[in-house]
Amino acid sequence: MTCLFRCGNACAHPAPNSSENEYFGDMLQAEVSRRGIVRAAAVGALVIGAGSAVAGAAPAYATGRPSPAPAPGGGKGALTFKPIPPNRLDALIVPNGYDWSVVAKWGDPILPGAPEFDIDSQSVRAQEGQFGYNNDWLVVLPLDRQRNRALLVVNHEYTNEILMFRDYVDGAPTRDQVRIALAAHGLSVVELERQGSTGEWAVIDRGRRPYNRRITGTTPMRFTGPAAGSSLLRTAADRKGTTVLGCLNNCAGGITPWGTVLSGEENFNQYFVGGDGVPADDKPALARYGISTTTRYPSGSRRWETAEERFDLAKHPHEANRFGWVVEVDPYDPKSTPRKHTALGRFKHEGATSVVAPDSRVALYMGDDERFDYMYKFVTEKKLRRGNSRSDREHNMSLLESGTLFVAKLAFSSASEIDGSGRLPADGAFNGTGRWIPLARGGQSLVDGMSIDEVLVHTRLAADRVGATKMDRPEDIEPNPRTGKIYVALTNNTNRGGTNPADEANPRNANKHGHILEITEDGGNHAGETFTWTLPIVCGDPNDPSTYFAGYDKSKVSPISCPDNLDFDAHGNLWISTDGNALTDHTGATFNDGLFAVPLEGPERGHVKQFLSVPIGAEQASAYVLDDNRSVVVSVQHPGEITGATVDNPASTWPDGDFARPGVAIAWRLDGREIGA
Ligand code: FEO
Ligand code: CA
Ligand code: CA
Repeated sequence: MTCLFRCGNACAHPAPNSSENEYFGDMLQAEVSRRGIVRAAAVGALVIGAGSAVAGAAPAYATGRPSPAPAPGGGKGALTFKPIPPNRLDALIVPNGYDWSVVAKWGDPILPGAPEFDIDSQSVRAQEGQFGYNNDWLVVLPLDRQRNRALLVVNHEYTNEILMFRDYVDGAPTRDQVRIALAAHGLSVVELERQGSTGEWAVIDRGRRPYNRRITGTTPMRFTGPAAGSSLLRTAADRKGTTVLGCLNNCAGGITPWGTVLSGEENFNQYFVGGDGVPADDKPALARYGISTTTRYPSGSRRWETAEERFDLAKHPHEANRFGWVVEVDPYDPKSTPRKHTALGRFKHEGATSVVAPDSRVALYMGDDERFDYMYKFVTEKKLRRGNSRSDREHNMSLLESGTLFVAKLAFSSASEIDGSGRLPADGAFNGTGRWIPLARGGQSLVDGMSIDEVLVHTRLAADRVGATKMDRPEDIEPNPRTGKIYVALTNNTNRGGTNPADEANPRNANKHGHILEITEDGGNHAGETFTWTLPIVCGDPNDPSTYFAGYDKSKVSPISCPDNLDFDAHGNLWISTDGNALTDHTGATFNDGLFAVPLEGPERGHVKQFLSVPIGAEQASAYVLDDNRSVVVSVQHPGEITGATVDNPASTWPDGDFARPGVAIAWRLDGREIGA
């Protein structure tokens, strides 16, 4: 059921990358340099990337993450919590000594005039003022110097109408159901307040605060960058190709050093029908993005075109080109128009996470989550300004409109030893070098035979031409603010093998459990074009010989499967959210997804421990460790989403005991000290 609603049963179809690729790997040495902290006042007293740190040292790399605030009992980063066991409980489970609460759930009123949620009395107007469905990536941004108020910003990835409406008829939605679903997509911004002096935070004033905002599948957005206004983006409703209604399937995300969020449109293909009726010239690009060009109604079609004609590509062949972008939202300005940045390319974006390069340009890392798709980087043309003036801010708000778009190509150190079993090579590491291959720079195409508009709108085709490395579903890519190293969640790829055999960076055929890739940019230069890489973690049951935990004693690590979203605590420990846990109990039933923490440096590197599990049928979609390291906010997406479940026959009743409602929760330590420590 998750497959159907989230990605249009992507795994039931052939992977859309049928290109051939090759490998090479010469290296350039880049300059070694480091920079300190970015300071950017987005609004009022907001300070990002400045201030004192938990353990006395500010992060070495400016990633947009607010600098850590002092935490009581200041730990040194050791993860000493007792891990929870894998389980199948319909509950949110945290370690002993911790508590949790729901922060916001689907339908909670967050705007003035929005009614209390009533599953039997839903309306478009109500949903437009209520917390959206299927919360995915989230972040908590500071709102005052005392760090007692904050903004929760959340993606709402997709809707599951079977679990939203008692009377939903699959394949025959009512007009209202379609429009409610559109209103339940997008993002929510909700103001939070710390509860007393604890690590618990909650929504204030039942959400009716000035910053609160809903962005939906119909909110007007503006295109920026070289492809804005392109003929490929023009439609009957937007003859200039500059304005689009809404964002869809916003999955992962990131934050910028200037205080905005970047939200990635992922499986946008599933909302469209009529791909068989587009002009022949348009078909190869549509097919490369997973849109059927042979069938009018692919299996599982939502049939949104019955309420909004723009979802019928036979009538509006360019409408799908207007989705699949990174959307920048300024949560500190509730009236701002979200922008889709064409310079960052179009694919199934997971998100875009930033780090400031030594020369003050900003690098963004981006994953394209599909079997055999690619890892990308964007480097701004202009430099970040560290001042707080209006003109500095306007300058920074223009940074994502021009720059260089790269795709990753890897080379391997032990290629001949890789047999698809996951056996570690003789040099003791899955590792190698890599290059960022430029696709477009300064508004010019660098790909033979493709215009700049084509490179940016059909980025997958451009990356195919330069022989980018096919990966096992690159999901979230995140820079570690402590070390500047880049971490990639490669979720799984059971199609690996055959004509796309295992390689050293994707070392297992039929990869069910995924792995983590670590990139070290040469010289710490995030604007550079060469890097080295290694796999610190190859996931699965530690008793499975194909797993690897950086050489750590496997008898001490938690089983982990399908890493999806990543975050870092104040000490640089990696927090991994999982999606689609494929590990099973003795009956063959899969364990619930969860949140895991692992040190990346020192003798504890690889010591994965499970911190939390989400209810049955749910995905642990995203986690954000608060800046004082005392709480972690988690996104519980699609609880009870199991084939056969309905509103009246729920597979989960989280969180209220009646039917399943996606929601955001917060976990904190009862004694008020740092989480994990
Ligand atoms: Fe929406 Fe790739 O997870
Ligand atoms: Ca090797
Ligand atoms: Ca995800």
